[in-house]
Amino acid sequence: MNDRATALVTGGSRGIGRGIAERLAAAGYTVVIAARKSQPLEETAAQLRAAGGDVHGFAGDMAQESDVEALARFQLEISPRLELLVLAAGVGTAGPFAEYPLRRLDFQVAVNLRAPFLLVQRLLPALRAAADAQRSRGARVVAIASITGVAAEPDLAAYGATKAALISLCESLTVSEGKRGVNATAISPGYVDTDMTEWVRGRIPRDEMIKVDDVAELVMGLRRMSRYAAVPNIVLTRPGVQLWRA
Ligand SMILES: NC(=O)c1ccc[n+]([C@@H]2O[C@H](COP(=O)([O-])OP(=O)(O)OC[C@H]3O[C@@H](n4cnc5c(N)ncnc54)[C@H](OP(=O)(O)O)[C@@H]3O)[C@@H](O)[C@H]2O)c1
Repeated sequence: MNDRATALVTGGSRGIGRGIAERLAAAGYTVVIAARKSQPLEETAAQLRAAGGDVHGFAGDMAQESDVEALARFQLEISPRLELLVLAAGVGTAGPFAEYPLRRLDFQVAVNLRAPFLLVQRLLPALRAAADAQRSRGARVVAIASITGVAAEPDLAAYGATKAALISLCESLTVSEGKRGVNATAISPGYVDTDMTEWVRGRIPRDEMIKVDDVAELVMGLRRMSRYAAVPNIVLTRPGVQLWRA
């Protein structure tokens, strides 16, 4: 059996997920990265392997229940223990509340909330097994939520609601499983410089956005903490006169 610690990073092909996967692979984790499009996913996996990482790619659409189930099975074939589950796959679109189409809400609920819920359910035995094997650290779920899940932003009602639910999911998981050594933490950033914030660049310059590595640094720190530290939610915002905004 694989004796490295194992991490699964959804949304690991690009952006925040990729940044976290890079750090974990460099730290010696066996890393499974998952994303929808197979070509960029395989390119990222190949780059991380070329840098010395033990990295495996899984292509699947987190909006599809069968793909989420298949990802859980793939992960369990790699290792029956899972030290870290990073839920970074996420989608969001802006639009006025009054006319916002329900199908766009449904899609965000599927990717941002339903898939994390199911994936955690399926991988809980592996997270518990990792916690049992590592008495001091336990295992952790880290969900990349959003500051919009904490403080509402104009035109992001659907996205913000899914992220508020994801923060709640992390709290519930810690309440249910923390005593067994499985804690969950939401990280809730404002605008991070990735493809997802391309539409904001006209208003907020890229160099004023939070960096991918700021989020990755928090994940690495959380992994170094003991199971006795429950951290429900970490909000990352940009400096300025108004802190509670994206
Ligand atoms: N960037 C920000 O300002 C910001 C702020 C707060 C929170 N967040 C959250 O942080 C997370 C990562 O965001 P990011 O900025 O890194 O986004 P990104 O650069 O757009 O990357 C998104 C990642 O998620 C994957 N993904 C998207 N939809 C998927 C689906 N249906 N099934 C499987 N994989 C899917 C993408 O893979 P494919 O390309 O193959 O679809 C990609 O790997 C998201 O949950 C986002 O909501 C971002």
